Amino acid sequence: MKKGNILIKNASQIVTCSGNKAKFGKDMSDIHIIENGSVVIEEGLIKAAGKTEDILSKYDENNYEVLNLENKCVLPGFVDSHTHFVFGGYREEEFSWRLKGDSYMDIMNRGGGIANTVKATREASRGELIGLGKKRLDSMLHFGVTTVEGKSGYGLDYDTEIKQLEVMKELNDIHPVDVVSTFLGAHAVPAEYKGKQNDYIDFMIEKVMPYVAENELAEFCDVFCEEGVFSVEESRKILLEAKELGMKLKIHADEIASLGGAELGAELGTVSADHLLHASDKGIKDMAERKVVSTLLPTTAFCLREPFAKGRYMIDNGCGVALATDFNPGSGFTNSIPLIFALSAIYMNMTIEETITAMTINGAAALDRADTIGSIDVGKKGDLVVLEYPSYKFLPYNTGVNIVEKVIKNGVLVYS
Ligand code: NIG
Ligand code: FE
Repeated sequence: MKKGNILIKNASQIVTCSGNKAKFGKDMSDIHIIENGSVVIEEGLIKAAGKTEDILSKYDENNYEVLNLENKCVLPGFVDSHTHFVFGGYREEEFSWRLKGDSYMDIMNRGGGIANTVKATREASRGELIGLGKKRLDSMLHFGVTTVEGKSGYGLDYDTEIKQLEVMKELNDIHPVDVVSTFLGAHAVPAEYKGKQNDYIDFMIEKVMPYVAENELAEFCDVFCEEGVFSVEESRKILLEAKELGMKLKIHADEIASLGGAELGAELGTVSADHLLHASDKGIKDMAERKVVSTLLPTTAFCLREPFAKGRYMIDNGCGVALATDFNPGSGFTNSIPLIFALSAIYMNMTIEETITAMTINGAAALDRADTIGSIDVGKKGDLVVLEYPSYKFLPYNTGVNIVEKVIKNGVLVYS
């Protein structure tokens, strides 16, 4: 029996999320369910999915590792399309200050926040970052995440930005979870460039980005477009340079202030625009029209005590929403997928079906990978999540609890 050959049968529900591109507006409700279903995976790729009866009449169980999944629900592996998971140090003191009333930006403006993690990440060795990264990927995998995006942006100098990206490359090689890398040199201006914002931008554009692009260390370039961080004009300049170098684009948009980040994402055709707590009506309309994925990060809003992004309103206005954790040591130190399902269904008024689309095929689309992952379709990667319950509806209902029982990655049972 070859590695990556697996046959699952008798699952009470197979939620296929079928499709090969992002789903927008009403289409987000189409999750496609096969009752009493089977999936066949050969050499890591999905070969067939259908009713157990039909599948067993065509495929010989003796050729596969067989999993009998009575009373279980099966979904595509979850895609966490926005994280900052490679970092040194922690910021638990800042969290306690926020509980007492300090804002995220107050702390950043007095030299804490991202700068704090930059210091610790510069000091951390590659070995340390790989060790931490592995542990964090293990935890993500247990939550059903089979593909994760990770950003640089805690170096803000040549060596450390590249160190972070190389660490992610190595983690991608050694860990079952697929890691998609994003360059986020424009995450903040480091202390040594204080008052010389333009020089820092030029340094990133002239020195760091060409190396990153040439060595294929990042598939995407992202910018923290925010009041007091990088303006719309600066963000446009950085993203256009990245595009020139062949990188795909993302943007941290309208997280704390309504600056026009969503509009800029639409103007530049970024693959996704992320956060969007304060996206304007025009920005929402533009994203829907230009088919930019709107990535919402409810755990960050929750941890910052900010109002949630208007998920319901965005979908009703034609947006394609993805959900992700934003896992990072500052604004949201959590990679909890159960919390994402709970917050998006209970507080953002998304239907359960929409939350599932947002964590699977739309997450894949936010990484420009909707043709290879994010749904249970023939030819896609054999990445599956098995729940301990018979219906996908248990995901928000068993609130805040991890009900992922098994994870299959490239046709191999990697967590059970
Ligand atoms: O997405 N907003 C910018 N970046 C992260 C937070 C990073 C940090 O605080 O360390 C975010 O919220
Ligand atoms: Fe982020």
